[in-house]
Amino acid sequence: MSAVDDSQPPVLAVTGSTGWLGGLVARDLADRGVAQRLLVRDLSRAPELSGADAAQCSYGDADAAREALAGVETLFMVSAAENEDRLGEHRAFVDAAAAAGVGHVVYVSFFGAAPDATFTLARDHAATEEHLRTSGMRWTFLRDNLYLEFMDHMVGDDGVVRGPAGDGRAAVVSHDDIARAAVAVLLDPAAHAGATYELTGPEALSFGEMADIISEVTGRPVRFHDETLEEAYASRAVYGAPDWQVDAWVSTYTAVAAGELDGVSGDVERLTGRRPTSLREYLEAHPGSR
Ligand SMILES: NC(=O)c1ccc[n+]([C@@H]2O[C@H](COP(=O)([O-])OP(=O)(O)OC[C@H]3O[C@@H](n4cnc5c(N)ncnc54)[C@H](OP(=O)(O)O)[C@@H]3O)[C@@H](O)[C@H]2O)c1
Repeated sequence: MSAVDDSQPPVLAVTGSTGWLGGLVARDLADRGVAQRLLVRDLSRAPELSGADAAQCSYGDADAAREALAGVETLFMVSAAENEDRLGEHRAFVDAAAAAGVGHVVYVSFFGAAPDATFTLARDHAATEEHLRTSGMRWTFLRDNLYLEFMDHMVGDDGVVRGPAGDGRAAVVSHDDIARAAVAVLLDPAAHAGATYELTGPEALSFGEMADIISEVTGRPVRFHDETLEEAYASRAVYGAPDWQVDAWVSTYTAVAAGELDGVSGDVERLTGRRPTSLREYLEAHPGSR
């Protein structure tokens, strides 16, 4: 990796490479010999990848973002870490990309993103999508379902998954599958301009079914408790988190109850040529992953 080389900047910029999803995408692109610019918040943490240079910016820092994106044609944009002003940061970054002359943004959104989505953060994704649609740049939306790897982490120390999800189902999807789908798009962005992909795993599962699968594979007894809304807010009050965050946590489950995370799309397989990994397959392949 080298510092920014203004004489011949890579035409592809990748955000989030210090994290899980963006890291997988950046490594896969490097392995394929694709030149890329890694946009990171801390240069010292940028992964060392062949064909990559790095530039520092955070989404909310418009000047740094414009500079970092100079000469970039396609931008892979991982959604920012949850915070109260995430939407403001996203809008600032999109505006900076448009001002820098970026042609196409591939944005990691959320399954069923809509202004009236039950999951509060899916509303922010919908607003970011709308900002991109009116930005003048081409766009592709990768709407990820819930991350499959987190399901095991939703189990409390007492072996209980708690939330007001009822019998609703979620088509949970792995980071690996999302990253492969993203790379397929980034290798030929023009072919995916204006496309919205719903990235899901191979099956939609209720939390009760997920608890059964975790129990069977890990040998640890796990069960699901369908909380009332009141119970859900009360059981999370101990964390002392701000209201917007507790609303986001609780509405993850109420969105599932409302059927808004249900539905297997087939888009991962269409993009990657591979059937996505199921929760059971993931747990079997990662014993003791928790
Ligand atoms: N579908 C789901 O179930 C689900 C669940 C949780 C989160 N998400 C969303 O999916 C995204 C990617 O997931 P992940 O597992 O790869 O997360 P991750 O491992 O936490 O990585 C997030 C990456 O985004 C970067 N980032 C965060 N905020 C930023 C900002 N304001 N400006 C510039 N860069 C920023 C981080 O940089 P640093 O290393 O500097 O922090 C990191 O590289 C998350 O950021 C979140 O928005 C989805």
